[in-house]
Amino acid sequence: MGSHGDVLADRQPPDRLRKLGVEVRPHLPQPGDIVVRRIPFDFPDDVEPHWKSDEPEWSHMVNGASLTMPYLEPFLIDSMREAMHLVEDSRIRQDARGFMAQEGQHFRIHRRYNELLKAKGYPELALIEEEMQKSYDRMRDRRSLAFRMAYSVGFESMTLGLTSWLVEERRDLFCNADPRVSSFILWHMVEETEHKRVAFDVYQAACPGYWMRAVGVFAGSLDVMRWSRRGYIAMLKKDGLWTDWRSRLRLWRRGIQFIRHVMPFLLRSALPGHDPSREPDPAWVREWIEGYALAGPTDAVRLVDTSSPEMPPPYSAPTTQHDRPTLHSP
Ligand SMILES: [Fe+2]
Ligand SMILES: [Fe+2]
Repeated sequence: MGSHGDVLADRQPPDRLRKLGVEVRPHLPQPGDIVVRRIPFDFPDDVEPHWKSDEPEWSHMVNGASLTMPYLEPFLIDSMREAMHLVEDSRIRQDARGFMAQEGQHFRIHRRYNELLKAKGYPELALIEEEMQKSYDRMRDRRSLAFRMAYSVGFESMTLGLTSWLVEERRDLFCNADPRVSSFILWHMVEETEHKRVAFDVYQAACPGYWMRAVGVFAGSLDVMRWSRRGYIAMLKKDGLWTDWRSRLRLWRRGIQFIRHVMPFLLRSALPGHDPSREPDPAWVREWIEGYALAGPTDAVRLVDTSSPEMPPPYSAPTTQHDRPTLHSP
């Protein structure tokens, strides 16, 4: 059984090992373990920017967030790498390496998805990308490490609220949506849950201070929201929907839902004494993580069934302790 804070890499697919006559007993990651997965998400030409065809507004809200990732996540990685030099605790340093490896996977896949968006009718997004690159470069040059880490902690606390919303309301948000995009977004949220405490732990170890952390909660989350908004406005304008009042109502409805879910997380994380490790992991996320560990990495991506009423995790785990295979350390 893994100790708290293990960083695990994808191992040989169990099927291949079984063929070699090796007995395979999977290690189930525990809360706090960080698993670096290389899932070959693919976005062939038939993936459409309106991946939820009845809701272009919601599709573009997610597309706008995706647009920020190849600029935001390298910034998080660079800040973490710099802060690690100030951290002596070996567990936190190991977690930081897991965080950087996971974020590295995320932004690379988002970049491929964003290329598809630009190729499929929204080349003007490239201008916003240029501005984002400049903005993050300026922050790297001009802002203190404490601010940059506080920004990272702030953004990471927003992702916890976002995960809770996307998972709890998945039947509404992803109903009959393209399973390839839905599965990719939900995978990202699963891994955000796994490394939820890492930026906070590194901040506390490298450059502790309450007020800067409180500022970072809003600086990080509002900045990413602002860039995402730039992206979805550009796409809705291109669609001719930006001035359509029915479209605007649908957009506001999703925006209000987002704020309603995320705000309590942001407010809690701005309090003194906050500790993100106390935020519970959604059961759906734990099932995804355990199911993936039991399935092992495969060449084929398993997709969320977005036509199913319950929309279970694509990787499912036995539901009772009794049914679980024997566990042992890898
Ligand atoms: Fe990420
Ligand atoms: Fe993250």
